[in-house]
Amino acid sequence: MSKEHKITMLGTGLIGMFYTMTLHNQRGVDRVHMVYSRNGEKAKQFAKDWNIPKWTNNMSEAINDPDTDVVIVGIPNNLHKEAVLTAAKAGKAVLCTKPLARNAAEAKEMLDAVEKAGVFNGYLEDLIYPPKTLKSLESVKNGEIGKVLWCRSRETHSGPHSDWFWDNEQAGGGAIVDLGCHCIEISRNFIGKDIRPVEVMCWADTLVHPIDAEDHGVGLVRYENGSIGQFEVSWGFQGGMDLRDEVSGTEGTIWLNHFLRTGFEMFTTGAKGGYVAEKSGSDAGWLFPVGDEAHEMGYITMFHDMFNAIDENREPIETFYDGYIVNAIMDACYISVKSKKWEPVNLEVWRGKTVTTEKSDAETWFDDQYLLVKKERMPDGQTKLILKDKESGKIIQKFITEE
Ligand SMILES: NC(=O)c1ccc[n+]([C@@H]2O[C@H](COP(=O)([O-])OP(=O)(O)OC[C@H]3O[C@@H](n4cnc5c(N)ncnc54)[C@H](O)[C@@H]3O)[C@@H](O)[C@H]2O)c1
Repeated sequence: MSKEHKITMLGTGLIGMFYTMTLHNQRGVDRVHMVYSRNGEKAKQFAKDWNIPKWTNNMSEAINDPDTDVVIVGIPNNLHKEAVLTAAKAGKAVLCTKPLARNAAEAKEMLDAVEKAGVFNGYLEDLIYPPKTLKSLESVKNGEIGKVLWCRSRETHSGPHSDWFWDNEQAGGGAIVDLGCHCIEISRNFIGKDIRPVEVMCWADTLVHPIDAEDHGVGLVRYENGSIGQFEVSWGFQGGMDLRDEVSGTEGTIWLNHFLRTGFEMFTTGAKGGYVAEKSGSDAGWLFPVGDEAHEMGYITMFHDMFNAIDENREPIETFYDGYIVNAIMDACYISVKSKKWEPVNLEVWRGKTVTTEKSDAETWFDDQYLLVKKERMPDGQTKLILKDKESGKIIQKFITEE
């Protein structure tokens, strides 16, 4: 039986609305009972729209409300730290949206604060939680695609919906901080959260918009076991919101498409117009609507995990520690953009394992003389083997006929 939680929602913008909609429509017992917006009128209207009994334009009052046991942070990135430190001081469980912070130093301060206060902390990285991602992660855990070698994650759209995202000071960066944080954590989950990210190589540029931050970025994150996480982000992409992941393993492959081309396509002349899906870019012609955005984005399963974890006194899948690691990777990305070199990921805390990248011959053993490089069935029915002589290193090929 789920316990009832009373939530303070900080923020009445896009994510405050999505979170409240998800909470009030789904698990049922958890209710937002206090909402904060810096603009009192907006807070009042939001409270009315979502049947929330209390509202305020004072953040401290919202967090310290005596009935609140869970605080959800859904305000701009530069305000996450203050909100989290206040919640930790008040002894409340705190769930923070992505990115955890503008940089690793801020994230570390937040991590230390919640851990020192001993309060529950959840990192609201929703894109780990779409049902198909959870299922894919389970398949990887079961060894169905072998060792993950390479994970490519992409999030691109035409740019954010509010002023503060475009301001380096408030956001802490551009498309990398906004979208790359998702992609980095997706790859980290597929490669293994206990595998240390060691270095990054990143390109970023401001190709389209008149801003100081980057509106494009591509990065490689190298993990200690040799695996590579690749992210691609853009605030200048036309055609909707492209959210895709590709996972390559030694025994298999997974392709995920979350938003465009999910199997739901619709044509309209645009006679009625209206909302299609977040950042769809168009309401006429061939469209890619999204059946249930809260589900496709993982909000429903994410809150299930978060609130069940509180009730069961366990950690959720995503914690502030994960948010801190992501911030540290992004910090290294910005250094690499400037240096144009591989740069180390500096982690003050590492709770995963240490692994070596040495390859064992056991997996490629063929016979006493050769290692197997590749085996392929040819059009004439024969099977071709590419073999490497262990002594000389010479590569040869050999045909065999298989039954
Ligand atoms: N998929 C996701 O998990 C996801 C999606 C969107 C946004 N976010 C995150 O949620 C947070 C908010 O983003 P959003 O899209 O809701 O933004 P938004 O602009 O739609 O809403 C921001 C909210 O914060 C308030 N606000 C803005 N400046 C403020 C200030 N100086 N002081 C106090 N309040 C202020 C606004 O009034 C509004 O209520 C960001 O950290 C963003 O990265 C996460």
